[in-house]
Amino acid sequence: LFPWAQIRLPQNIMPLQYELNIYPNLTTMQFKGSVEIKVQVLKVTRNIILHSSGHNISKVLFASGVSKQEKQVEFLEYKFHDQIAIVAPEALLEGHNYTLKIDYSANISSNYYGFYGVTYENENKEKKYFAATQFEPLAARSAFPCFDEPAFKATFVIKIVREEQYTALSNMPKKSSVQMEGGLIKDEFFESVKMSTYLVAFIVGELKNMTQETDGTLVSIYTVPEKIDQVKHALDTAVKLLEFYQHYFEIKYPLQKLDLVAIPDIQAGAMENWGLITFREETLLYDNNTSSVMDRKLVTRIIAHELAHQWFGNLVTMQWWNDLWLNEGFATFMEYFSLNKNFKQLSSYEDFLSARFKTMKKDSLNSSHATSSSVQSSEQIEEMFDSLSYFKGASLLLMLKTFLTEDVFQHSIVIYLHNHSYASIQSDDLWNSFNEVTRETLDVKTMMKTWTLQPGFPLVTVQRKGKQIFVQQERFFQSATNSGVHPSDSSHLWHIPLSYITSDCKQPDCPHRLLLDKKSDVLSLTEEVQWVKFNVDMTGYYIVHYADPDWDALIQQLQRNISVLSDKDRAGLINNIFELSSLGKVSLKKAFDLIDYLGNETHTAPITEALFQTDLIYDLLEKIGEIELAQRMVTRLAKLLQHQIQQQTWTDEGTPSKRELRSLLLNFACTHRLDNCNSEALKLFQAWVDSNGTKSLPTDVLTVVFKAGAKTEEGWMFLFEKYSSLESETERNKILEALASTEDVRKLHWLLRAGLDGDVIRAQKLPLIIKTVGRSFAGHLFAWDFVKENWNRLVQKFHLGSYTIQSIVAGTTHLFSTKTHLSEVQLFFEAQSEATSRLRCVQEAIQIIQLNIQWMEKNLKNLSFWL
Ligand code: BES
Ligand code: ZN
Repeated sequence: LFPWAQIRLPQNIMPLQYELNIYPNLTTMQFKGSVEIKVQVLKVTRNIILHSSGHNISKVLFASGVSKQEKQVEFLEYKFHDQIAIVAPEALLEGHNYTLKIDYSANISSNYYGFYGVTYENENKEKKYFAATQFEPLAARSAFPCFDEPAFKATFVIKIVREEQYTALSNMPKKSSVQMEGGLIKDEFFESVKMSTYLVAFIVGELKNMTQETDGTLVSIYTVPEKIDQVKHALDTAVKLLEFYQHYFEIKYPLQKLDLVAIPDIQAGAMENWGLITFREETLLYDNNTSSVMDRKLVTRIIAHELAHQWFGNLVTMQWWNDLWLNEGFATFMEYFSLNKNFKQLSSYEDFLSARFKTMKKDSLNSSHATSSSVQSSEQIEEMFDSLSYFKGASLLLMLKTFLTEDVFQHSIVIYLHNHSYASIQSDDLWNSFNEVTRETLDVKTMMKTWTLQPGFPLVTVQRKGKQIFVQQERFFQSATNSGVHPSDSSHLWHIPLSYITSDCKQPDCPHRLLLDKKSDVLSLTEEVQWVKFNVDMTGYYIVHYADPDWDALIQQLQRNISVLSDKDRAGLINNIFELSSLGKVSLKKAFDLIDYLGNETHTAPITEALFQTDLIYDLLEKIGEIELAQRMVTRLAKLLQHQIQQQTWTDEGTPSKRELRSLLLNFACTHRLDNCNSEALKLFQAWVDSNGTKSLPTDVLTVVFKAGAKTEEGWMFLFEKYSSLESETERNKILEALASTEDVRKLHWLLRAGLDGDVIRAQKLPLIIKTVGRSFAGHLFAWDFVKENWNRLVQKFHLGSYTIQSIVAGTTHLFSTKTHLSEVQLFFEAQSEATSRLRCVQEAIQIIQLNIQWMEKNLKNLSFWL
């Protein structure tokens, strides 16, 4: 009988040091391993329980710290919990050290998880082998037996045997390389710092690198040899950001090297393994000729994210996955913060803003969860990797930083990092560090707990009467059960850092700031004003609703002169009024009245938000066959934006923000066949075809150009042929998006299959294909059918609960808006395993369809009446 029944490991044994030997065979996809674990006993016991998954264990040796004499011992397995129990020959004594040595063999995995292998073709069409690790959250246990929970920190010595042509990398610098028999080489790496198992990593592949030293650390970018000329941007960025973080956190990066590796095939966008960060090719490599300004932002942002993890996550780690946000929320916050400090011209605040809007939409649903929520099973842990941990976490930090000022914020997190280096923490430890700084003036812990322990966020309702402003809070809740309007739920209360400006705003008391820590309050103005705008620059994680005259005052102000409100505030008003209209608090007509000013809009963020909201409506209308109505809405928008669209050139000129606006507007124009957009795009496409794909086109409009080209049979075939031969991954992605936007369902079918098989199109691209197909009129039913047909294979490849599975489910169901589709989706998931039907993304999908149905019932008639 297995002596332990819980998912979590017992606390009586602590690992201190691992020595790991790995002998991989990349062609047979198998490996042999042996691990020696030095442990310390905290409480007397007879068994050592640890994780192991999929190992064929041949031998377990046990030695006590004193006698050093090895004895072979028995072990038991409990597969359901990925655990083994090693039965010691004697009682293990408190305070004593023991050593375990486990010999085993296993398969190199083929699902991007654990120690996994991939194949790819190099420039000469030769088949190449590559192996890498992805352990977070729960897969270190499938590479070697270990105590696979983040709080069990230990040091690691790693040795890898490889063939000569390969490079082996691990977290630490290489200590030695020894020639072995049969032409093999054994690389040994220095002992690591104390760290969690999920951060251990090693890689074997044919690689080239470029290196630069900064402050005693060697920073290198590694890639397959043929792409070595695409690494410069990443190297410059990594060096600059490493210097910035060391300075900002007042803690030096502790290792002598930091490798950033572009992996030919990987599921995640990137992974922060200590000293050995892995990336997709398109999130690390930058090609001057084909990478767009959006690609540049992505690469910069992701490097910033993974480097921030070297402190937030690696140095200071959450005790358990319930607090994943302490890792991901902080890393996400630091992306935007550090880009704003170091690459201001990239205007990354625009991306952060629209990410906050999307997160609030998700957080307003019944299926949402508190930022810190208890988790046990592997699916629940995987599910924590969602936009709430990332972006709600980051948004809360932004709100706090704004409220406390930048200095207090920095001071607090420096204390936090210093106090908990090489240890693990809970949310309260973070708030305690803030309270050390704010002790006299504010209880940050009490305030922030109202945000991290409750799901959702507040709706603040503002009503002005003369010089008085009445404010009131309730949960912003999208409910599908009653007809839209939810009775205010009095059990929720947040401590909201309110901010507002008025038409009469005078520095320095503007913006006004105060903490609303009760249901309602009354604020007094010194004089009557034309308008008030709450949540200045949208740094607060809440939505604001105004009384009718107050909305009208703001709408009029936008018509008159936009510049008194920041672009963030204008985007925020657009977002809030559309979200309020789906809640039934304002009419959809009023939302459209508000965006009537768009012809005068000069900035990217508000236009992005307006198009996001209206595209969603367009997509929904189109899918139920209301094409004529959808077209009327587009016509209205096209008229509003006609000047901005006409101003666009087919070039890469301008600031990053303007360039992104150009991509957005030309995509809008070409998608809806406005003016001569498609004929311009086709001219460029033809020139590109005539040069056999060698002519360099403006990068920001590449996708638009390729999409136009993919509409014909010859165009599609030409693009497809280029897909297989081009070297730039960002260009290939643009081509793939164009290929997947065809209306020819036979081609769509072929693409989806090819992505699933993973030969011609790497399986890491499948989610992108599914998402693109799932949005189009021709493809959306098809994409859903594909997901149903291949559900088991998809889960096998991307594992249940993962971010990839979440996005596949959302991407193929979120545009359904009929009762038939609702029950179809419900029935499908009910027929799967219980773990599947309980997934949060499934609950969310069902709710979104219900809300879509409701939206149609409420708005369809009205819309066709006044549009
Ligand atoms: N720690 C994650 C990688 C990860 C994601 C591990 C999901 C396990 C499950 C990494 O830091 C990360 O957040 N990667 C993102 C990219 C990031 C810049 C938003 C990803 O993979 O999408
Ligand atoms: Zn992360």
